[in-house]
Amino acid sequence: MARTDARTLPLDEISTAALAQRALLYRLVDPADPEALRAYSTAEARGFLGEEPTDDEAREFGESIGYRRRIGVYDEAGLDPQVPVATVNSWVGELSVPGDRVTPFWAISGVTVSPARRRRGIARAMLEGELRTARDAGVAVAGLTVSEATIYGRFGFAPAVEATTWDIDTRRAGWRGGDVPGSFDYVRREEAVALLEDLHERVRVTRPGDVDGWTGRWRQFAMIAGGSKEPGRTRVVRYADAEGVVRGAVVYRLTEDPADMARHTLDITYLVADGDEAYRALWGFVLRHDLVSRVRASLRSVDEPLPWLLADRRGAHVSVHDHEWLRILDVPGALAGRGYAAAGTHVIAVSDPLGFAEGTWMLEIGTDGEARVTPTDATPQVSMPVASLAALYLGGVHAATLRSAGQLTGEDDAVRALSRAFSGDTAPALGIWY
Ligand SMILES: CC(C)(COP(=O)(O)OP(=O)(O)OC[C@H]1O[C@@H](n2cnc3c(N)ncnc32)[C@H](O)[C@@H]1OP(=O)(O)O)[C@@H](O)C(=O)NCCC(=O)NCCS
Repeated sequence: MARTDARTLPLDEISTAALAQRALLYRLVDPADPEALRAYSTAEARGFLGEEPTDDEAREFGESIGYRRRIGVYDEAGLDPQVPVATVNSWVGELSVPGDRVTPFWAISGVTVSPARRRRGIARAMLEGELRTARDAGVAVAGLTVSEATIYGRFGFAPAVEATTWDIDTRRAGWRGGDVPGSFDYVRREEAVALLEDLHERVRVTRPGDVDGWTGRWRQFAMIAGGSKEPGRTRVVRYADAEGVVRGAVVYRLTEDPADMARHTLDITYLVADGDEAYRALWGFVLRHDLVSRVRASLRSVDEPLPWLLADRRGAHVSVHDHEWLRILDVPGALAGRGYAAAGTHVIAVSDPLGFAEGTWMLEIGTDGEARVTPTDATPQVSMPVASLAALYLGGVHAATLRSAGQLTGEDDAVRALSRAFSGDTAPALGIWY
């Protein structure tokens, strides 16, 4: 099925009116207007406290997200009315879901409101506009990666993918992963983009929570995007198996300890492995790197095999945080879009203050793991707010855990059955920001 081009969709009328009441203009950014794109990039950089882009960087950024729908909110009474006071961009991407499949989802990014216009309801108008537009376009799920965990719950989003950050003392942690046959080679940074794109495409479907990438993301990783700082400190190494087939790559940066050359820090930007051997090979490569005593990595999974490869797992400090948040917009569409681990019938009541997912739903799962979802008048076995359904969607948390936290209700048997059905083979994970 052809994916909806978000750029062709009209602006949400309710949000247009809500912002007009505050004398603000809600407008699609014209992709053919370089000045508008430059102003948009400047506003986004300001919102994320980054460096304001040069003209070349703004143009490159504009091109790299040219496939997205960009919206600016403008204050014509402001000092510089060309620069939006708020930004958001969105597109229909592919979200990997349990059952080794992907489902279309409404990806949202670049949500910023100028610190000079904060807390006047601008983000609310933009976010609700995004959700209505996605729903009207027939997209069942929306998602974003978040700067703060406090913002999106109020709109019905919930953390569906958690991520781990690793700080490994390599000398203490040691290695018990053995040697994997195959070879490593440095890759020129300019050639890393195609390599990362290809590997990511190969593996993303197997991990719920992953999404399709875009060239600009890989250019940033390879430090060849405009504005890249100290690009020469980044290395790209690929791994090929014993048959010579490229199975993985790691992008990393090295920082010297001025007091001791044998104590470099190696920061992994991205490590992608197509298969278990590649995973062991690449981690073995970074953890046994000469002149390196510390390896750090972020956006790794919560069920990373890594501890099982370390001689002393206490040599690794791991912290967990929420990363990707989802919002269910269409219950039948979303639930029928994934596969399930156990057959059964579940009657689920969902409450949704914004109305999109409100109702009681019959989820019938066959022995093949496929689901049929219909509205029903039957008495619900399990009840939950829409955010809890998003938290369950990729199998990142058990229904029983949410019930313990007071975020879902139901009898023991029904909740246990739901936990079993929604469980995935692996924890959801997402190794990039979008
Ligand atoms: C987060 C941000 C977009 C909010 O914009 P805003 O226009 O000030 O938000 P609104 O006025 O529409 O607020 C809507 C609600 O969210 C709350 N809220 C907004 N930002 C919040 C934050 N950072 N933490 C907690 N609550 C927040 C508001 O208090 C308000 O609550 P209410 O519905 O109970 O009244 C803005 O502060 C920003 O640009 N931050 C920096 C960039 C960023 O982190 N963007 C998010 C990227 S994922």
